[in-house]
Amino acid sequence: MKDIVYLNGEFMPRAEARISPDDRGFLFGDALYEVTPVYGGRFLALDRHMERLRRGCATLRIPFPEGLEALHQELLELNDLQEEEMATVYLQLSRGTAPRTHAFPDPPVPPTLYAWAKPFKRLDQESWEKGFGAVTVPDQRWGRADLKTVQLLPMVMAQQAARDAGEADALLVRDGLALEGSHNNVFFVFGDLLVTHPASNQILPGITRALVLELAREEGIPVEERPTAVGDLQCVSEVFYTGTTTEVRPTVRIDGKPVGDGKVGPVTRRLHEAFRAMVARECGAALV
Ligand code: PDD
Repeated sequence: MKDIVYLNGEFMPRAEARISPDDRGFLFGDALYEVTPVYGGRFLALDRHMERLRRGCATLRIPFPEGLEALHQELLELNDLQEEEMATVYLQLSRGTAPRTHAFPDPPVPPTLYAWAKPFKRLDQESWEKGFGAVTVPDQRWGRADLKTVQLLPMVMAQQAARDAGEADALLVRDGLALEGSHNNVFFVFGDLLVTHPASNQILPGITRALVLELAREEGIPVEERPTAVGDLQCVSEVFYTGTTTEVRPTVRIDGKPVGDGKVGPVTRRLHEAFRAMVARECGAALV
């Protein structure tokens, strides 16, 4: 496999890419990132991913670089990923390299822009049908979880807690509310109603979350964006996670207790199928 990455204006083999130890992404986590899916060589919702990055840049006062769509496309081509069933592009933008001091460098320095592409193996249907488990973990993040920063230590610890418990996902809990996963959003089904946390500063506003909300509305599934108390999880009939690398993935147990009857439910299945059909429509990718 070719492994050509982009760093500050140049494409090069990954092994040749170098950044300074004084990069603010390294020293402070002063950086934003995006992960964008590609199906059969076509990006899904690249514009929305770039818009989220643009909003993050505006909030953190990091200049938003031009030409990112072309950069994404070029990475695909240089890595021969146009025919791949699925791939992802990772992009990271830090405030740049400067002697360590907390406030922004003055005068400003050029941001560091790093990006790479790699194939991604979609989940097979057999594993999907079995469903997955999640464990609740306290949410230890700062107050701007809506910004996609590389300050991911709380998410690293949460995902490791899930792995230590032998489960696929973490369910982050703050003030008694179940918010999202370590790298994905979460949806609950109460009776006929689909519920997910509002896009506040407490969660990352997932692009897949937004796409699934649109699909649910198209499908005539009643939807409410409101918080869910952990105590109410016993009344939930279905749970699923969404994300770029998660797509729509069922959760059949939380903290070892079955969700509903412990099987993948009909709303999850409908939205999973609707999501895959939308991917096929948007990207011309084969339905799996
Ligand atoms: N994670 N919530 C969090 C905390 C995330 O980090 C992500 C994405 C999501 C889902 O967002 P989207 O649907 O736009 O992928 C929700 C990426 C994929 C990652 O960290 O690898």
